[in-house]
Amino acid sequence: MAASPFIIIAIDGGAASGKSTSARILSERFNLLHVDTGSYYRAITAELLRRNVAAGDLPAVRAALAGLRLGTRLSGRSAQMEIDGRHSDDDIRSRAVNDHVSHFAAIPELRAALLSYQRGLADVARTHKFRGLVMEGRDIGSVIFPDADFRFFLHADPAERARRRAGEGQQDSIAERDRLDTSRKASPLTCPPGATSIDSTHLTLEQVVTLMAVPINAKLGPA
Ligand code: DC
Repeated sequence: MAASPFIIIAIDGGAASGKSTSARILSERFNLLHVDTGSYYRAITAELLRRNVAAGDLPAVRAALAGLRLGTRLSGRSAQMEIDGRHSDDDIRSRAVNDHVSHFAAIPELRAALLSYQRGLADVARTHKFRGLVMEGRDIGSVIFPDADFRFFLHADPAERARRRAGEGQQDSIAERDRLDTSRKASPLTCPPGATSIDSTHLTLEQVVTLMAVPINAKLGPA
């Protein structure tokens, strides 16, 4: 029997579009390494804020970035970023990070620092015998893995997304972050040509996951 292929799945979309939950379910269903790249932009933002570096102060951002040691640790099927040997989940969903992360994420040098780090996680997935990688973010199907086996773009009505975030108990300016993420010059949030666009406004999570899982299952077979 032919060996099962190693697959890469890219899921992009705006804030609270359902990326993380569907990516997590797919990672469990097919034994894939799950990578939430938004958490990496958040972790770096939290670290720079801790160091009192402002997004508008490019020389300070560059100097701080040059000194950060990025590592990875696995927690179950999730690849978590360590900065200077530390992983911190505590403050990455804070109001301050929500407010600043899109400004830091618009800086080309910061995106460049994360590009090879993110691509390198495919090797981490292979080394740890995952059947593939499911990576979610804003530019995964357009920039990080444009040749991914599957590229999905999730979107949903802004009111519905605000309702979802409020349900998670988070204060988040979704519309403003989406505006910044879509309008920036470096790797803007966009549905790349050829990606499968899914409007999740009136779909249950299970329906969204099923839309993604059917073609994946055809290629990979069940875990
Ligand atoms: O997915 P999230 O809401 O946790 O992402 C936080 C921010 O990080 C988002 O507003 C934009 C940025 N981001 C990005 O620019 N590119 C990615 N691949 C992932 C996130």
